[in-house]
Amino acid sequence: MTLQIVVGTQWGDEGKGRIVDWFSAGADYVARYNGGDNAGHTVTVGSQVYKLHLVPSGIIHPQVIAVLGNGMVINPRTLLDEIALLRQAGVDVSPRRLRISSFAHLITPAHRALDAALEAARGKTSIGTTGRGIGPAYTDKAARRGLRMGNMLDANFVEQLGEHLAEANRMLELLGAPPLDPEPVCREYGQYAAALKDYITETSRELHSALRAGKTVLAEGAQGTLLDLDFGTYPFVTSSSTIAPGALTGLGLGLDVAAGARVIGVVKAFQTRVGSGPFPTEVSGSLAERLRGTGAHPWDEYGTTTGRPRRVGWLDVVLLRYAVRLNGLSDLAVTKLDILSGLETVHLCVAYESNGRRHEHLEAGPFSLQSFQPVYEELPGWAEPVSACRCWNDLPSAARAYLDRIADLCGVPVRFVSVGPEREQMIER
Ligand code: GDP
Ligand code: IMO
Ligand code: MG
Repeated sequence: MTLQIVVGTQWGDEGKGRIVDWFSAGADYVARYNGGDNAGHTVTVGSQVYKLHLVPSGIIHPQVIAVLGNGMVINPRTLLDEIALLRQAGVDVSPRRLRISSFAHLITPAHRALDAALEAARGKTSIGTTGRGIGPAYTDKAARRGLRMGNMLDANFVEQLGEHLAEANRMLELLGAPPLDPEPVCREYGQYAAALKDYITETSRELHSALRAGKTVLAEGAQGTLLDLDFGTYPFVTSSSTIAPGALTGLGLGLDVAAGARVIGVVKAFQTRVGSGPFPTEVSGSLAERLRGTGAHPWDEYGTTTGRPRRVGWLDVVLLRYAVRLNGLSDLAVTKLDILSGLETVHLCVAYESNGRRHEHLEAGPFSLQSFQPVYEELPGWAEPVSACRCWNDLPSAARAYLDRIADLCGVPVRFVSVGPEREQMIER
């Protein structure tokens, strides 16, 4: 019985897609447990670049069965577009290989309209959401009025959708936003229901049986620990449980099958964030431009989902220690080490200082981070490019020292180092 969980340790976009792709080579199932099409996971295989928002990144490996878990919120239009793109690329995405939990919630155009209207109403204090309707869909779930994927199989699905739209229109009106015309939405969603019906099923039982039968299930997290609804930099978070324990509730797995799970924390070699919220190690000016890139490379720091430039900064080990604890990490996978080549020095934030006191851990969680000053350790950089390195000893000694220092400071070994977006640009230690 092998459960592996790949989880982001920062504010998302750590390179989870690429790490999931690596582990999927040995997986029977790859299952997404949270979020929706706010996620953008990139997998590069030769000249083919897959940008996946909903379908688990493991789908590219032909032996994998991919699952969209109950913890997700699903926009059927994005999903069908993604299925079509994958098919064009020669990937089999039939119901034989893809399952959608009947308990996952449905995202409708009303959720997107509400997301936009709520962000506009927040004005200067807006969260900077991806605009995909994620918050409103999870709000409906918690308010027990959401539509689930299983409702698409009901004979009266279109009537249920009509009632949902009528209620959403009342809210949109309160927010001063234009209401939606239910008729075309109902027609469109009726077609989506017909196209997706063969994929919708109860998925928790199949995953449980697979684990009991000794198969390998890889749980793919979306977003990152610091965007977790409970433990992230609230209120600048997403609306789901992004952390590794969320894989259990988000896939319907019990603690029996979770015992001994391998939890791989994906850490970008520096820190990025899209949207609003605190970011103690954020940098600006020429260093920020250097870390972000100009947009000339596909891996430069511009959002996969929205194209927004990402905020950038030095790696924050105080926040990483917090992620180690919340996720119970067994391994670290450090990505984008290649981006740091050529810097004279690299900085690690090893503690915070506030009112003359030093904090190595977050006693009260990641709140009021504005009042903390990062304390940096400065390490020598390395001039050599690392993208052709394939084993630990190929790496320049200063790069190895940087990675060893991260492991020492947070108490978890760095077992994987990614030195480029390509499948083989990986070092396993
Ligand atoms: P995710 O949301 O965590 O899956 O990450 P994204 O796909 O949104 O963003 C990561 C970006 O960095 C993608 O363009 C990846 O192809 C790219 N990437 C991943 N690992 C590496 C790496 O080690 N080096 C470089 N240069 N790019 C990487
Ligand atoms: P992946 O899976 C980076 C951020 C948004 C915003 C906040 C709330 O690719 O790592 P939401 O639309 O979820 O209500 O927005 O969360 N956000 C992400 N940032 N990567 C993501 O996903 C994100 N998904 C949401 O920018 O700040
Ligand atoms: Mg992403």
